[in-house]
Amino acid sequence: MDGLIASSFAIASGAEDQTRLRRAPDCTFVIFGGGGDLTKRLLLPAIYNLACANLLNETFSIVAVDWADMTTEGLRSQFRDAIDEFVARRGTAAAVLNETVWDWMMERISYLRGSFEEADTYKALGDKIGTTNAVFYLAVASRFFGTIVDQLGESGLTTEDGQFRRVIIEKPFGSDLASAKTLNARLLRTLTESQIYRIDHYLGKETVQNILALRFSNGIFEPLWNRENIDHVQITAAETVGVERRGGFYEGTGALRDMVPNHIMQLLAMTAMEAPTSFQADAVRDEKSKVLSAIHPMRPEDIVRAQYVPGNVGGEPVNGYRQEMNVAATSQTETFVAMKLRIDNWRWAGVPFYLRTGKRLTCRKTEIAIHFKHAPYALFRDTPVEKLTPNILVLHIQPTEGVTLQFSAKVPGPAVRLGGVRMKFDYSDWYTEGPTTGYETLIYDCLIGDATLFQRADNIEAGWRVVQPALDAWAKAEDPLCFYEAGTAGPRDADELLSRSGRRWLRLVP
Ligand code: BG6
Repeated sequence: MDGLIASSFAIASGAEDQTRLRRAPDCTFVIFGGGGDLTKRLLLPAIYNLACANLLNETFSIVAVDWADMTTEGLRSQFRDAIDEFVARRGTAAAVLNETVWDWMMERISYLRGSFEEADTYKALGDKIGTTNAVFYLAVASRFFGTIVDQLGESGLTTEDGQFRRVIIEKPFGSDLASAKTLNARLLRTLTESQIYRIDHYLGKETVQNILALRFSNGIFEPLWNRENIDHVQITAAETVGVERRGGFYEGTGALRDMVPNHIMQLLAMTAMEAPTSFQADAVRDEKSKVLSAIHPMRPEDIVRAQYVPGNVGGEPVNGYRQEMNVAATSQTETFVAMKLRIDNWRWAGVPFYLRTGKRLTCRKTEIAIHFKHAPYALFRDTPVEKLTPNILVLHIQPTEGVTLQFSAKVPGPAVRLGGVRMKFDYSDWYTEGPTTGYETLIYDCLIGDATLFQRADNIEAGWRVVQPALDAWAKAEDPLCFYEAGTAGPRDADELLSRSGRRWLRLVP
């Protein structure tokens, strides 16, 4: 099944296209951590949106497994509050809840109280599932991933006997290369690779899926997409939020582990990979793995790690990282990281990829900027033009969704003067469908068995392999931490990473 073409694109492109999608097969959708935040904020609204689009089977059902003392009725009422809030935020195309769809869903939800570590839970779960197809969604802390899969296997729930049994795993998938390998090996003792759906929610974003569409469905970009024409690439994932209530988790994680081997490596792979031979899952995942494995080991001098100190974000004073809840007063955890990577293959040799991501920055913005080489200057020698501005193609991932191309145009008037102008494609000018959670496509694809937008074991390990040299150096405290004021574009050292070679980050402005 061609995930990108058949599912994601069709969901995105309006009602008439949805008729081309088939309904997902019959399935019991089991959510471990079914009473948790992820379920309420994202999974449930996504399933509701799929139900509204008529993409779920008539016999679809949900079992929420969690340890809290709660009833199915109690859970339904919590879900109702969550969906009301989601609809109120215009998280769906409609301003009001579709009560018929909601009732249909609620009838299919049940709660199973139990510990993830005890066989009884799985026995009770087995009774609920029977012989139906089942997807097990692990919306739980990562320490439970191995345990739950072991238990599912021991109770026979992962055995496919005419029906499918699939497991969706959230991040973090390991905390370094060694632990990711160990976890992969543990899962593969119970499951086959084709039963494992490792989620990276960035791949659920339309604008991320659009990277391949832009590159490979247009004749004009691909011939320019190489070291002959591209000077360098910048990938930015900037956030205004701090660590919120996740200080305890973030202390042991930091910006590098939290964002780079997963989300940012996906953006990089989609930008830099060769054209796959088809949109079949393995064809796409093979090309991603190849490009990630062509990345040179990072050099310590090419990485900047920093932490925010108090400042102002959006006009409001905010704490520094060390003043956040559950964060040590002397914490050395980075909340910002910038780096230069080199890809050693025929397409990219000599083209640096600069990446930066951080919390409490001046604006929220995820984008990929392709900086093309300058045109020759000679023609402009005898004119007032002092330098030529480079062409920059920016793929806006969020919150702006679209593509812009910056180029030079003649400023009207008798003299030859040039100005930078911009051509712009904005999704909202062309497409009107309501916002989604980003999980609809991923859940639907898992139900129909399309793994294109999920990560294979080798993709996950390739991401960790890229950042491992930095983790090793930091473990020996070889890399100093620097600081940046909250509400700024990050530390000066990050600017120096580019200015050494006469380059500059695109300005971080909303
Ligand atoms: C998560 C990280 O995976 O991605 C968070 O753990 C981060 O720290 C989030 O805020 C960013 O996702 P998005 O979709 O808001 O860019």
